[in-house]
Amino acid sequence: MKYTAGIIGLGSCVPDRIMNNFDFEKIMDTSDEWIRTRTGIKERHIVSEGEANTDISIKAAKRAIEDAKIDPKDLDLIIVSTITPDTVLPPTSCLIQEMLGATNAAAFDISAACTGFIYALTIATQFIENGMYKNILVIGAEILSSITDYTDRTTSILFGDGAGAAILSRVDEGGILSTYIGADGSGKDYLFIPAGGSRLGTSVQTIEQNLHTVKMAGNEVFKFAVRKMEEASLEAIKKAGLKLEDVDFLIPHQANIRIINSSAKRLNMDMENVYINIDKYGNMSSASIPVALDEAYRKGKLKKGDNVLLVGFGGGLTWGSTMIKWNL
Ligand code: UT7
Repeated sequence: MKYTAGIIGLGSCVPDRIMNNFDFEKIMDTSDEWIRTRTGIKERHIVSEGEANTDISIKAAKRAIEDAKIDPKDLDLIIVSTITPDTVLPPTSCLIQEMLGATNAAAFDISAACTGFIYALTIATQFIENGMYKNILVIGAEILSSITDYTDRTTSILFGDGAGAAILSRVDEGGILSTYIGADGSGKDYLFIPAGGSRLGTSVQTIEQNLHTVKMAGNEVFKFAVRKMEEASLEAIKKAGLKLEDVDFLIPHQANIRIINSSAKRLNMDMENVYINIDKYGNMSSASIPVALDEAYRKGKLKKGDNVLLVGFGGGLTWGSTMIKWNL
């Protein structure tokens, strides 16, 4: 028997501390004007000393569980998408499992950079559709400030911290119509962290050479993003048996307002129906889409029966999209 998966609860959380563009003016050669016009970002939330991934992802998770009106013991699986876990071992998903008392849930982390939430949603959808699991908590959570080089003006101004969570369950009406994921490892040098893995571990030299922070070829990623946002969107629409004009609402990854605008234009979407919060949070990698989805939902922008398209891209390079008939 094939079941249909749908989102039955959402939650999100960002740290309290705000770093605005003027704060960057004080530490590097940049300006509020440059950052706003080139990226659309005005401010981002950054953790305070001592705060880590699970300090915010647990709050997002609890909000989603409350919204779904389930008990943590009803969870069968927890998937956390992150490139900035509390620790490499144990997985952040296991820390969340213990914090929630979700004793019946299996737990694992996945790493697919900014597309991570779409990847995790795709995995969770399979488990629901094939009948193996009933309730799955999917989290996208990042503390990008922990891997950001605050001396590099081309990357540091982009990133923020945050967490978004969704409960996926069996639904009778609407739900996830299609998902699509892709990758191209030949783009590995466009967005990467040189050290900290098994290839180049942590040493005095790697720290002195600043090799534990994100390096990015911004222009290359930009061109790839504009192309892939359109391609991935069309793929999920086609797989759902829909047409472009059937899409009611678009929730894109929030990396740069110019990428969002040009993707929306290529997709012929009215900007009224495109959710944008990059001005407040910057790029939160795998947390961007679930935070935007939670906000759009709580603001009443998504109506029952709407065809809602999620689309993202990121390091790897990776990309993905999900078409949902909104069921809440
Ligand atoms: O989630 C996926 C991850 N990443 C992305 O999606 C990022 C995609 N790329 C981008 O968003 C853009 O490429 C950036 C925002 C990173 C850069 O914008 P750009 O319009 O592509 O600028 P650029 O790299 O071509 O640089 C233009 C100029 C350069 O100066 P010169 O060489 O023309 O004199 C940069 O040095 O802007 C300069 N610049 C800055 N100036 C002031 C770069 N960063 C800054 C800055 N403040 N923060």
